[in-house]
Amino acid sequence: MPTKKLWGGRFSSEEDPFFSDFNRSLPFDSELLEVDILGSLAYARALERAGVFNRRERLSVEKGLRGVLKDHLRNPGFIEESRAEDVHTYVEQALTGKVGALALKLHTGRSRNDQVATDLRLYLLQKESGIEKRILALLHTLADLADEYLGVILPGYTHLQRAQPVLFSHYLLSYAEMLLRDLERLGDAKSRTDVCPLGSGALSGTVYNIDRKALAHDLGFSTVSGNSMDAVSDRDFVLDFLFFACTLQIHLSRLSEDFILYNSGEFSFLQMDDSVASGSSLMPQKKNPDALELVRSKTGRTLGHLVSLMTVLKGTPMTYNKDLQEDKEGLFDAIKTTEDCLHMVQLVLERVHLNPQRMQESATQGYLNATELADYLVAKNMPFREAHSLIGKIVVRASELGLTLEELPIREYQSFSPLFEEDLYGCLDLKKAVARRKELGGTSPATVKKAIRTLRRKIQKYR
Ligand code: ARG
Repeated sequence: MPTKKLWGGRFSSEEDPFFSDFNRSLPFDSELLEVDILGSLAYARALERAGVFNRRERLSVEKGLRGVLKDHLRNPGFIEESRAEDVHTYVEQALTGKVGALALKLHTGRSRNDQVATDLRLYLLQKESGIEKRILALLHTLADLADEYLGVILPGYTHLQRAQPVLFSHYLLSYAEMLLRDLERLGDAKSRTDVCPLGSGALSGTVYNIDRKALAHDLGFSTVSGNSMDAVSDRDFVLDFLFFACTLQIHLSRLSEDFILYNSGEFSFLQMDDSVASGSSLMPQKKNPDALELVRSKTGRTLGHLVSLMTVLKGTPMTYNKDLQEDKEGLFDAIKTTEDCLHMVQLVLERVHLNPQRMQESATQGYLNATELADYLVAKNMPFREAHSLIGKIVVRASELGLTLEELPIREYQSFSPLFEEDLYGCLDLKKAVARRKELGGTSPATVKKAIRTLRRKIQKYR
């Protein structure tokens, strides 16, 4: 049986069933049911303040709305069986079942246009706060790992070629920096979500005496929108969130990529815990890092949602257009994907088995201390470019002989330059090389220790 439309008045023929399904958003916007009811509860109070409802009516509507929510929590099947067009229609119909015509009065001065914009903002604000907590938890885990493994040396790479030794903790903190920036971006997105459009009506504002500031305050918003036309058609706040989510996931994807490599037999710097790895159906020896491969690939979904919504928005004339209904599924999926990826990476990090010895061994191969040797010559007044080229030749010589720079005899060095003396071997030590990078942002243990403390202080400030 077709349900009654909110806008049936001017229509004489029935809706085509295919159009009806095409047009419906209830199958996905039912996600907004709780915030839709929160919005209506506050709007009922605003209508009472405006003199549209008396106290008894407002109380009755409130009781009805709470009843609709309770029914839903007890039996989510109600909404699944409903043929309502969208969640707002569903709630109104369910409320009508409880309080009769009073339910229709609740829509006085309100349009689904300002209603859906309000719902989406309330919903997103809740999710943004949850995601903020998850990022903080991940930062906490990074700080703990950095503390626990302080002193372990890892080969640092550029172009995926071993380049210079760094502390493993320094490497971990590079991801903490990214996540701190993500938190800032999230805060920014949050502040732009935190604006109440309710009271804008369909597009031109309300003729009723709605105290919009009190209404916004009642709903927990910090501020109210300043232009009714913008308020019902603005979805920038969703773009802001999606951009944040993409950047965060790009960071998680990079970390995943590193760990997938480090987990391989060739690197063996770490091993995934059995609880977050999977096997092969054919090759019994395999333990695959599927969890991180999925984190890496799911980034693509969120990127898609961002591009998709930007494309939707670019062509919409003022003000509300049904195009805006397309904002939801991508956003909901991006939220869930972001939450899931954060949770997955958290589990992987908490349980990872590190192999510091392998990292250290690998750092001793590949001439990672060649730069130290160039610095040695610079200290003896050779211009850096010249030293760089000379050490390049020495590295070729050492590798021809199958020796490390530590093993190459002094006479070999001296055949390249008389500036070399026995003390050159002292500067080749990886620990010393790391310890020399002691300026702010460098990899020396003292600097990294301070950086961990700074990170912990920043986490604390958010809490
Ligand atoms: N389901 C709609 C959406 O998500 C709600 C607003 C409908 N407004 C309208 N004027 N048809 O955008």
